Amino acid sequence: MAKKIVGLVAFLALFVGLPYFTYLIVNNKIVIGYNIGYQPDQPIPFSHEMHAGNLKMDCRYCHTAAEQTRHSSVPSLNVCMNCHNVVKTDSPHIQKLSEAFYSGGSVQWEKVHLLPDHVKFNHAAHLLSGKGVFKNGGERQACYKCHGVIEEMPVVYQHSSLSMGWCVNCHRDPEYDAPTNCSTCHY
Ligand code: HEC
Ligand code: HEC
Ligand code: HEC
Ligand code: HEC
Ligand code: HEC
Repeated sequence: MAKKIVGLVAFLALFVGLPYFTYLIVNNKIVIGYNIGYQPDQPIPFSHEMHAGNLKMDCRYCHTAAEQTRHSSVPSLNVCMNCHNVVKTDSPHIQKLSEAFYSGGSVQWEKVHLLPDHVKFNHAAHLLSGKGVFKNGGERQACYKCHGVIEEMPVVYQHSSLSMGWCVNCHRDPEYDAPTNCSTCHY
């Protein structure tokens, strides 16, 4: 009896499950490879909800390079220590932070967003453009167009697909009217 059930399950998986799965993928019903919602565990539970939300800190206080360069940087520990030399020093997480700082080490944050190497992306080109992405609502709203409402995230996750379609749809939008030739985004 048990053998028959195993056989039936295997049969269904192979001849019904697999073709259905293939159908879903081929027809874009499930999208794999695009990490929407990707939320890696971080070595220290740093919360944007606390720092950017409750404390209303400016994104650029920590992500200084966003407007100047291709990459927006993740802050080095001295930025954290401006406050955490005195704030919440009884917390084991803050002690871990200070230890890393005073021993000359760093915290290995897990990267959340990552484009493939063949794609050119540039934060500065977006943030400094007068074309709508950043005209209205100021700096935060600009970041939220692509990253979602970070100030409500206790742990950061990937909000947008970062797929080619996602980029091109916005570039085509008459409000933005950004270039869509292949060499804009590919080497
Ligand atoms: C107090 C410093 C601080 C402030 C203020 C801050 N961040 Fe961050 N941010 C970090 C740190 C540290 C990380 C890396 C750890 C993590 O992912 O949580 C990070 C990670 C991120 C990431 C993910 C980076 C990746 O790995 O792909 C994004 C996107 C981001 N921040 C956007 C924002 C936005 C938008 C704001 C303003 C609303 C903001 N941050 C305010 C410190 C800060
Ligand atoms: C402008 C001051 C300020 C800066 C800069 C700052 N923090 Fe904080 N942080 C705070 C405050 C205030 C709290 C809340 C303390 C409380 O709960 O009483 C906090 C809480 C925390 C906590 C939670 C501690 C716990 O155990 O409850 C962690 C972890 C943390 N911060 C990490 C960081 C990291 C990492 C950075 C640098 C990327 C950073 N902070 C930069 C002010 C700051
Ligand atoms: C037009 C969309 C867009 C906007 C607007 C945007 N980002 Fe990003 N961000 C991205 C993409 C795409 C990546 C992944 C880049 C890569 O892997 O090369 C990224 C990556 C990051 C990272 C990780 C480090 C890096 O550069 O790879 C941080 C931190 C970050 N963004 C912060 C911000 C902040 C802060 C703002 C607002 C000041 C902002 N971003 C505005 C699309 C955007
Ligand atoms: C929310 C809308 C939006 C999204 C999403 C977006 N872009 Fe853009 N992009 C723009 C605008 C607006 C400009 C600036 C056009 C200008 O100022 O001429 C721009 C400019 C650029 C430029 C510079 C073009 C030049 O002038 O040389 C590159 C490269 C680029 N985007 C790549 C990307 C890639 C890759 C993605 C997806 C990962 C992406 N963009 C997602 C709106 C967007
Ligand atoms: C606005 C930015 C942008 C433009 C314009 C653009 N691409 Fe892309 N392209 C991307 C991004 C981001 C990816 C990586 C994500 C993905 O695979 O969807 C990508 C991926 C690709 C891939 C790899 C697909 C895969 O499955 O890995 C090919 C091939 C490609 N693009 C060709 C083109 C061609 C041809 C054009 C011109 C008609 C073009 N792209 C224009 C942003 C762009």
